[in-house]
Amino acid sequence: LVLVVDYGAQYAQLIARRVREAKVYSEIVPHTAATETILARQPKAVILSGGPSSVYEPGAPQLDPALLTAGTPVFGICYGFMAMAQALGGTVARTGMREYGRTAVEVLEPGTLLAGLPPTLSSWMSHGDEVTGAPDGFTVAATSPRAAVAAFENTAAGLAGVQWHPEVLHSEHGQQVLEHFLFDIAGCRPTWTMVNIVEEQVEAIRARVGDAQVLCALSGGVDSSVAAALVQRAVGDQLTCVFVDHGLLRAGEAEQVERDYVEATDVKLKVVDASAQFLRALEGVSDPETKRKIIGREFIRTFEAAAREVVAEAAHDDQPGEIEWLVQGTLYPDVVESGGGEGAANIKSHHNVGGLPDDLEFGLIEPLRTLFKDEVRAVGEQLGLPPAMVWRHPFPGPGLAIRIVGAVDGERLEILRRADAIAREEVTAAGLDRDIWQFPVVLLADVRSVGVQGDGRTYGHPVVLRPVTSEDAMTADWGRLPYDLLERISTRITNEVDEVNRVVLDITSKPPGTIEWE
Ligand code: XMP
Repeated sequence: LVLVVDYGAQYAQLIARRVREAKVYSEIVPHTAATETILARQPKAVILSGGPSSVYEPGAPQLDPALLTAGTPVFGICYGFMAMAQALGGTVARTGMREYGRTAVEVLEPGTLLAGLPPTLSSWMSHGDEVTGAPDGFTVAATSPRAAVAAFENTAAGLAGVQWHPEVLHSEHGQQVLEHFLFDIAGCRPTWTMVNIVEEQVEAIRARVGDAQVLCALSGGVDSSVAAALVQRAVGDQLTCVFVDHGLLRAGEAEQVERDYVEATDVKLKVVDASAQFLRALEGVSDPETKRKIIGREFIRTFEAAAREVVAEAAHDDQPGEIEWLVQGTLYPDVVESGGGEGAANIKSHHNVGGLPDDLEFGLIEPLRTLFKDEVRAVGEQLGLPPAMVWRHPFPGPGLAIRIVGAVDGERLEILRRADAIAREEVTAAGLDRDIWQFPVVLLADVRSVGVQGDGRTYGHPVVLRPVTSEDAMTADWGRLPYDLLERISTRITNEVDEVNRVVLDITSKPPGTIEWE
């Protein structure tokens, strides 16, 4: 276990991910965690993340010097590096000058940390103050224009640090620097693999569940699919999945859950086709928030009724135990963002299923709560789930209803499904699925424009292509798909989908736009 102390920058999650990429398990702790609490978890090493630009800023988070003398190896990054320098008696100058962005770092003395790296590294910097003197016993490993000491190490004490951000992709050899610390200074071993995660989780789930029954709401998304597959691997038929088909999925997705998923996992699945009910409830509604509310309400009703049926069936059959558990696909970023405590994340995830009635009381099984999205995908692959499911782009719960600008009806859904399927097919054929985060296709159902096809004028609808790149959906950029790919999509959609005579590209980033149009 490597603990990453979060000094409040957005980089802590990234650091934890990079450590895990080195096959070393890692978790994040807030900088307010007491040194005893951190040490009590017996980490193999501690990494101090970036944070505010100055250690002299009022209220800047403090580093307890005791953490550096406890014998646990510590690696400081950016703010963590400066806090370390200061705590150990080095000098940190208040320059007020910022060094920001790509910077050339000169390696002075490679030592262990920078062993085997080129003499100059292009690295990502973001700092105000400057370490001008390394603490006693440390060698200065590198320098940069605005950081006299840009890296230092004291391998005997297991301490090292860098001013730049080795965890970001823009920093050359960043992963190597991190691995030199983990393996060569801290003595970690790369034993954390997907096989081990699956085995550990399966054991843990078995131990918790015993012979009770488990329920899961399957959405067709990656998280709930992988969570359910893990639980199925652990307790087999004691798990029942409920899939509410709200009729707002993309072409082929309901079938994917019903057929391919069951084939791959052998999971016991109860499918509720509620599409007619959802369409009725949505009739004539154009307002996005109202659509969301209606869909949320109908989902709860449907899932609740299905859950009651499953409970009743379990009681009638001579099944060994009652339904005591509910599976949730909560991921590590949700856990970190809601404060990291068990309770906090549970409240949020309970929310996800929309507040089940009080008389249905379940404990939560959250087998993915320590994992990042890319790790969840790797677990999915390990469990043998179909690639189309494992690599599925994030898709909103309210589905295509919020990708039809205007009221939703069966005909409009069909138009959008056809256009969307073409866009997806072409992106997949171009091999670019994993280069984009999401690719909403939006039907402007209340807009018509004039076109000409064959000999005649048309008066059809535009569809919007909205490919985006993102790390976490909080911010996003529009995806730069190749022109010839866009052309193929446009030509096919206007040729193959009668009602559409115009295809437009959304080139707005988020902010100011959101990813979805509604
Ligand atoms: P926006 O449009 O806010 O979307 O940039 C951010 C991410 O959230 C997804 N999204 C939703 N997911 N229910 C969901 O489960 C919703 O109502 C919803 N609205 C947006 C969106 O697809 C993107 O990944």
